Amino acid sequence: MMSPLPPVIGHRGAAGLAPENTLASFALAADLGCAMVEFDVRLSADRVPVVFHDDILDRCTDGFGPVAALTLAQLKRLDAGGGQSIPTLAEVLTLCLERHLAVNIEIKPDGGRERETTDIALSAAGALWPSDRPLPLVSSFSGKALEWARQVAPHWPRGLLAERLPPAWRRLADVYGCATINLRHSWLTAARVAEIKASGLEVLAYTVNRKGRAEKLWFRGVSAVFSDRPDFLLGANIRM
Ligand code: G3P
Ligand code: CA
Repeated sequence: MMSPLPPVIGHRGAAGLAPENTLASFALAADLGCAMVEFDVRLSADRVPVVFHDDILDRCTDGFGPVAALTLAQLKRLDAGGGQSIPTLAEVLTLCLERHLAVNIEIKPDGGRERETTDIALSAAGALWPSDRPLPLVSSFSGKALEWARQVAPHWPRGLLAERLPPAWRRLADVYGCATINLRHSWLTAARVAEIKASGLEVLAYTVNRKGRAEKLWFRGVSAVFSDRPDFLLGANIRM
């Protein structure tokens, strides 16, 4: 059973204010008053789940090339911005537990390794995450990852992640046992939100950095928005 979602989810922590997907970014999201954060998980070459968005290191670190080509020790030597290192999933979850943050673990499509990534990441998370805390929401653009998440962590809620609603969304949500559909916000008209909600699924919207836009989406029935600037949204008029 999924716990009620907070209206604002810190995207990659507070990615508009701190280096994304770093411990500093998650700590800042907590300082700003977020109750939940989202982050991206993929595997290092030695199969340690790390929190990092892109396939390659170039945009967010002083390294280059595929994340999956380096071991954790090699990844840890890189600067992920402001002197931060790329965190492991375990480090991020530990901080989230300390700061009482609920979590959305996004499994990144990872060159055919989705099943392995899901297995390793959710096994590691399951060993750390206490049963009396809000269950992590597991989301992915990859059907294979969601399918496998259902096997590995059947009781954790799942979110079907897509830029726009796929034609077969009802069947896919059913096959993967999803509780939410997480879509790009620009696609979410009032009619589309209503149609999804009528099926019993919750709607989440990414990535929303303007207060007026967030208010409009909440008014339409969107449960939560992912934001790089939670500071802009947390004081907003939340009319659910
Ligand atoms: O989960 C919402 C959002 O993070 C999905 O897109 O590319 O930012 O991981 P992306
Ligand atoms: Ca993400």
